[in-house]
Amino acid sequence: MLATRTASRLVASSSSSKGFTAAARALSTTAPLLHAAPAPTPAQQKLKEFKIYRWNPDAPSEKPTLQSYQVNLAECGPMVLDALIKIKNDLDPTLTFRRSCREGICGSCAMNIDGVNTLACLSRIDRNEAKPQKIYPLPHMYIVKDLVPDLTQFYKQYKSIEPFLKNDNVPEGREHLQSVEDRKKLDGMYECILCACCSTSCPSYWWNQDEYLGPAALMAAYRWMADSRDSYGAERKERMQNSLSLYRCHTIFNCSRTCPKGLNPAKAIAQIKLEMATGA
Ligand code: SF4
Ligand code: SF4
Ligand code: FES
Repeated sequence: MLATRTASRLVASSSSSKGFTAAARALSTTAPLLHAAPAPTPAQQKLKEFKIYRWNPDAPSEKPTLQSYQVNLAECGPMVLDALIKIKNDLDPTLTFRRSCREGICGSCAMNIDGVNTLACLSRIDRNEAKPQKIYPLPHMYIVKDLVPDLTQFYKQYKSIEPFLKNDNVPEGREHLQSVEDRKKLDGMYECILCACCSTSCPSYWWNQDEYLGPAALMAAYRWMADSRDSYGAERKERMQNSLSLYRCHTIFNCSRTCPKGLNPAKAIAQIKLEMATGA
């Protein structure tokens, strides 16, 4: 998808540049010639090394490697995603990663940067040129290519908690109202962008992701249990009455520490456990 988007952007820019060239030619008798900006001198360069995980599914027998790229920070935006886009555009078009919104909304650019699961578009480049910045895909996931993890299981788990309002007695012909206080109970949960940073930082999820739902799906489940308009809370909890779906959480709190949106999935999980224990 990324390659398609990039290609369409390139096509768009080349067709618009044709129009620009024609316009420039038409003006050439009256306007001064445009020159490309001079290349930066060595003194103007601020070279920073990025070491990036590479693995190509077309060469499955080859082991993953860390590939090194030198990026001139004087010509690059401030965020790690800017550096990745610069590398892809200027140095190596084969580098593969997901991205879309570039402002922390879509969750696509989640990756492990210098040991922390986070969003590349919200992470500033470490300006210390002496220290390479290391970028890996989200940990303990199957890899599609380079920095792209396979999120099939993650989305399957999200789907399994039925992330939508369930109520058999929705009032007909009028709004299904919710008080301001009840609406407030959803704050800190509805903002989740499903980036998977939390689940892939959770040791319990690393080792049991076939059965353990993980913090992202569990917080999403609690978001609906806590919704005053949903009447399926008991059934939602009943489905978690087993040793694996929920109780594999050992309250290690990696999930809440790493969430790039500042959410607290560990708290939501603790709340589900409390309500299940007390029958609330
Ligand atoms: S809780 Fe935070 S880290 Fe987890 S998926 Fe949602 S936004 Fe990402
Ligand atoms: S608190 Fe639970 S879900 Fe969060 S990292 Fe720890 S074990 Fe995983
Ligand atoms: S590109 Fe959308 S969250 Fe980073």
